[in-house]
Amino acid sequence: MSGASLQVLSVVGARPQFVKLAPVARALAGAAANHIVVHTGQHYDAAMSDAFFSDLDIARPDVQLNIGSGTHGAQTGAMLGALEPVLSSHQPDWVLVYGDTNSTLAAAVAAVKLHLPLAHLEAGLRSHNRRMPEEHNRVLTDHAADLCLAPTSLAVTNLEAEGLASRTVQVGDVMADVCFEMRDRVTGIDFVATGLHAGEPFVLVTVHRAENTDDPDRLGRILKSLAALDRAVLLPVHPRLRDRCAQFGLSLTQGSLRPVEPLSYPAVVAAMTHADGVITDSGGLQKEAFLLRTPCTTLRTETEWPETLDDGWNVLDPECENVAALAGRTRPDVPQTYPYGRGQAAQEVVAALEQRMVDR
Ligand code: UD1
Repeated sequence: MSGASLQVLSVVGARPQFVKLAPVARALAGAAANHIVVHTGQHYDAAMSDAFFSDLDIARPDVQLNIGSGTHGAQTGAMLGALEPVLSSHQPDWVLVYGDTNSTLAAAVAAVKLHLPLAHLEAGLRSHNRRMPEEHNRVLTDHAADLCLAPTSLAVTNLEAEGLASRTVQVGDVMADVCFEMRDRVTGIDFVATGLHAGEPFVLVTVHRAENTDDPDRLGRILKSLAALDRAVLLPVHPRLRDRCAQFGLSLTQGSLRPVEPLSYPAVVAAMTHADGVITDSGGLQKEAFLLRTPCTTLRTETEWPETLDDGWNVLDPECENVAALAGRTRPDVPQTYPYGRGQAAQEVVAALEQRMVDR
């Protein structure tokens, strides 16, 4: 280990990574580690980025690269070039990357090219769908990493099957840490941000994945099915959805749709807790719905979080054909299970980073 305390350099860039960073940053501070945070700038709108740092009590990033949008190659390449001198100058004990975005892959490649130890948080998830950009990002990052921090036993099994067992540690899911904590902190629906009225029945919907938004026919069909639901459809609009609807001439104000700006993390947790159901293509929301015990319908052919399918908490509806029946289904009458841990994963992450430094 270099110096007296563990030195970790986290690279984040997109909304779900700020959520995962929060509990990890706190656990690293508790262990008196030296923690440097680098923001690639993949997400840059205030509601997609800054709000998360303030709501989750995360310190401002130490380095802001301001890369912004672009095609996958241009965006990832620009990040790679910008990260190299930053990583090189800090020489951390670990470069820590999160999840499956282009920021994750860029930082992974930058680290291994500099022979810096690389740890991947949320390792071992697989959709087995090679058309998803996120699938390339997670597979390539896992195979580059010196330490695969796996959230679940299934993730461990996936990594073992790819020959990565010796680099793998199961730590639990840091999103459970932050989700349970926020559940206990938020008091009720944010009526201003959501525009909902007290007692109004609603479902919370998000759609942002390339597979659902980039084809005008498919996106048009999805919006039509959602607009026909018999209750309010609270729809925080991701910038990709906003851009594609404008490009394809699709309306976000039809029928039951209630488009709003992207919600803060506390507002989304409160909305999920009070919603009749969640309909989404987001990995994070599927899992948060499960943790918060709200039925979820997933607009995809597969999920990286199959534990959520148990007992019918989550149901896949790739063509968005069954949402009318699925949206208002009742909560399964079963006790809570904890496949993602009970909210202590970030401590396990820090312990694994410390232990594997000693072992190296
Ligand atoms: C990215 C991740 C995805 C993650 C999602 C969470 C990849 C390949 N995908 O998808 O895994 O679930 O973030 O949101 O990394 N834009 C803005 N303002 C912003 C950010 C984006 O206007 O703050 C617009 C840009 O026009 C951009 C588009 O949204 O082209 C999409 O952003 P991008 O970073 O390419 O991917 P996401 O769809 O957000």
